Amino acid sequence: MLLFLDTADLEEIENGLDWGMVDGVTTNPSLIAKQGKSYLPTVKAIAEMVPGPVSGEVLATDREGMIDQGRRLADLAENVVVKVPLTPEGLVAVRTLTEEEIETNVTLCFSPAQAMLAAKAGATYISPFVGRLDDISEDGMGLIEDIVSMTDNYGFDTQVLVASVRHPQHIVQSVQLGAHVATLPFKILAQLYEHPLTTSGLDRFLADWQATGRSFDD
Ligand code: E4P
Repeated sequence: MLLFLDTADLEEIENGLDWGMVDGVTTNPSLIAKQGKSYLPTVKAIAEMVPGPVSGEVLATDREGMIDQGRRLADLAENVVVKVPLTPEGLVAVRTLTEEEIETNVTLCFSPAQAMLAAKAGATYISPFVGRLDDISEDGMGLIEDIVSMTDNYGFDTQVLVASVRHPQHIVQSVQLGAHVATLPFKILAQLYEHPLTTSGLDRFLADWQATGRSFDD
């Protein structure tokens, strides 16, 4: 199970890498806008920091524009994956980029039918947005189950990348369903470490030893 950080915040990425649990990063235009920095230089800076795949999204919506921006993103660094929206034009661009051996991440997937089309187009990753489906009272993790069984049934190489993660349970369920990757905000990565019994247990261990008045070496 690979864990990607869903952020364009360099400090968060640095912390996540320091903890040794971050296998890659995904960004999107909203996340980069939040940083108030230039687009391509931000993707480049992230790709230079992270040893694994870094998704940078195209801003064009027509095939020629997406192919051109995809090539420019891929030229930034070897680990850049081109993120393309799930539209007819987007999937045409994915086919061309795939033929050029450029890795792609098809984003804004909300149905098994859309995922099937992305897999047929040769996407390296398909990103179903579970949180945004839950937000409208649909079943985000049910979509992951459907897509994982589809990729298994047909032997598609496309990896299922669980996106729009809102809480640690989304990660636990992703593991149970056999998703290949999940991308999560830094806050949720930190939450994965937490359990109240871990905190209280550690406090108790340290307090008990401190009460003896002895040190580590004593
Ligand atoms: C995926 O790659 C997207 O960047 C992201 O997961 C969207 O999440 P949100 O629904 O929290 O914006």
